[in-house]
Amino acid sequence: MAPRVVLVGPMGAGKTTVAGLLGEAWDLPVRDTDADVEAAEGRTISDIFVDDGEAHFRTLEAKAVADALASHDGVLALGGGAVLDPATRALLEGHEVVFLRVGLSEAVKRVGLGAGRPLLLGGVRARIKALLDERTPVYESVAAHVVETDARSPEDVAAEVRERLS
Ligand code: S3P
Repeated sequence: MAPRVVLVGPMGAGKTTVAGLLGEAWDLPVRDTDADVEAAEGRTISDIFVDDGEAHFRTLEAKAVADALASHDGVLALGGGAVLDPATRALLEGHEVVFLRVGLSEAVKRVGLGAGRPLLLGGVRARIKALLDERTPVYESVAAHVVETDARSPEDVAAEVRERLS
């Protein structure tokens, strides 16, 4: 069993929302690795960052992604930083990966003040710019499809993902 589609992209790309819409449209279960980590740990991602640091979170995240890729028969959304792990990128090979692209201003608008996103503490716009600059080439390297999300509703984005995968 393997996910029908794996959504990657930065915070604010709409991965979780679009995954929900695809799951509804295809009548498939939806998983989100952020939620998997929080459920397994019984605490929020922000708490994991504060208590144990980002490196520990990345270890938990890599395990959640590997588990979901091996067993989840549905739609899968990865946390925005999951693709930074080379072992995770290797596991993504052969899966149907879609990069939901978002521009800087739109991402800033969507994440608001960054509540619940520990990587954004201390300056949302500057941090998002640095993350987009660093990670966009990585998302592009793992994805077969790039779907633009700026100025589009999640429904419109989900429709394009369905069209591309049909
Ligand atoms: C992160 C993105 C978050 C979450 C964590 C770190 C990142 O997920 O995994 O706060 O490194 O970009 P979303 O992309 O779902 O917000």
